[in-house]
Amino acid sequence: MSDTLAQIDGLQVAFAGHDGALTPAVRGVSLTVRRGERLGIVGESGSGKSLTGRALLGLLPPEAKWSANALRFEGQDLLAMRPKARRRLCGTRMSMILQDPKYSLNPVMTVAQQMRETFVRQAPKQGRREIRERIVAALAAVHIRDPERVADAYPHELSGGMGQRVMIAMMVSAGPRLLVADEPTSALDVLVSMQVLSVLDEMIYRHDTGLVFISHDLPLVMSFCDRVAVMYGGRIVETCAARDLARATHPYTRGLLEANPPLENPPDELPTLRRDPAWLDEGAAR
Ligand SMILES: Nc1ncnc2c1ncn2[C@@H]1O[C@H](COP(=O)(O)OP(=O)(O)OP(=O)(O)O)[C@@H](O)[C@H]1O
Ligand SMILES: [Mg+2]
Repeated sequence: MSDTLAQIDGLQVAFAGHDGALTPAVRGVSLTVRRGERLGIVGESGSGKSLTGRALLGLLPPEAKWSANALRFEGQDLLAMRPKARRRLCGTRMSMILQDPKYSLNPVMTVAQQMRETFVRQAPKQGRREIRERIVAALAAVHIRDPERVADAYPHELSGGMGQRVMIAMMVSAGPRLLVADEPTSALDVLVSMQVLSVLDEMIYRHDTGLVFISHDLPLVMSFCDRVAVMYGGRIVETCAARDLARATHPYTRGLLEANPPLENPPDELPTLRRDPAWLDEGAAR
């Protein structure tokens, strides 16, 4: 079986402004995710990280104008797939933890009602009590302290960090082969972040899941991921092994790294991130 789990080739995403003119947001992104691999995507705000992840799942906003030469997952051509079959893949073999859990949880359903759908889809013959136990166990696995109470809560009753953990529990419990996690730990304190990362670790180990890990946290990506793609202005400007990121050569990546000064020996002044319009026109995958 091929080692390649998912592939994006030549993804373009644009949005129409008030005058109808298209503004490109993703400009020819190509990337591959292997089975069991953790691929980090870093880059400044607005560089196209979330849109790239969403395109793979078929979750681009309806107003997006997009095209790709190829989108493949487990050998299947996602572009040729019927919408119904594509939707069935989402939440089962491929899932996404969205950047803002507020928009991804259904406000009029309790946590347990939403999670039940995932479990029923996986094993339709399970009894209600068995499903309830699995829901509570999944919430406990992301270190939610009172999982019984949270299971019966509505999304507006949860804090941001709790909502994020509920999302993670929901997506991880489906045992996806591909998980796109968009800033999954940004609303969590350090301790809970570490616990959530260990939940992701276990999922990767158990299901050989390929993880696309979108984050602003370069030191975290360097330690948690195998490979890193750096995005700038809707393109991937550099891809390298995570352990080599500190030696990255692209001036934008260097700028990002220098914006994360070492704690032990901080410089007197933080450098300004330098941007050069010429980088926008460089090759899509350096
Ligand atoms: N629904 C939309 N309508 C118009 N423009 C959009 C829409 N969604 C995204 N964009 C634009 O596309 C660009 C890339 O967006 P994207 O969400 O992928 O950025 P990002 O790299 O994930 O940023 P962040 O780090 O802030 O999450 C941004 O400039 C954004 O303004
Ligand atoms: Mg984003």
